[in-house]
Amino acid sequence: MSFPKLIVDSKIFKKDLKVLDVGTGGFCGRNTLDQYINLIDYKNIYCIEYNKERYENLCKKYINKYKDIKFYLGDFFNYDFNTVFNIVICDLDSSIFLNRFDEEISKAESLISKNGYIIIMALGDLNNIKTLTCDTKIINEYTDSYKNIWKTNNITDKIIQNKINKNLKVINSFDHTNFTRYVLIQKLN
Ligand SMILES: C[S@@+](CC[C@H](N)C(=O)[O-])C[C@H]1O[C@@H](n2cnc3c(N)ncnc32)[C@H](O)[C@@H]1O
Repeated sequence: MSFPKLIVDSKIFKKDLKVLDVGTGGFCGRNTLDQYINLIDYKNIYCIEYNKERYENLCKKYINKYKDIKFYLGDFFNYDFNTVFNIVICDLDSSIFLNRFDEEISKAESLISKNGYIIIMALGDLNNIKTLTCDTKIINEYTDSYKNIWKTNNITDKIIQNKINKNLKVINSFDHTNFTRYVLIQKLN
């Protein structure tokens, strides 16, 4: 799994940093939150999930042991967090990465302090799309959006770097599956 490797290699998770975990409910925190939960002060961990059932499952899982972690039910794109973070983790649905990347990155950037980090789940080589699903209809829809929006068959780190503003620097990426990866981006100013 790549998220633990990202944590170890990047060394960016430090006790006093403030972390926003976006879409935490998908696997009930197993991909992201569980991996760094003991590295960050609980009161500095903020999670947001817009699916009510997943949000409730999250609360059930963490509420007793981790009372200081904040769990919000809401839409990341419209939510007013009223604070800035050192790390924003955007482990959102792959369709959001495909169709709303510019919005996703610009909302994350607006929430990050200078020298802070964005971690974003990204898609890779279209030849490996079957890792995501076997549903031909979904594969065809994804393939169309992928090619129309990104104008490539393989979204590399370099392509992501060229799409974001110069104040954001792609540092590295960490494979999750053979089609998905976490890209680590730093805000320079
Ligand atoms: C791939 S899962 C995330 C898995 C999660 N990191 C974990 O460790 O379990 C994506 C999640 O993002 C949520 N999501 C999608 N769009 C969202 C939005 N605009 N605001 C908040 N959550 C969103 C989905 O409901 C889904 O639960």
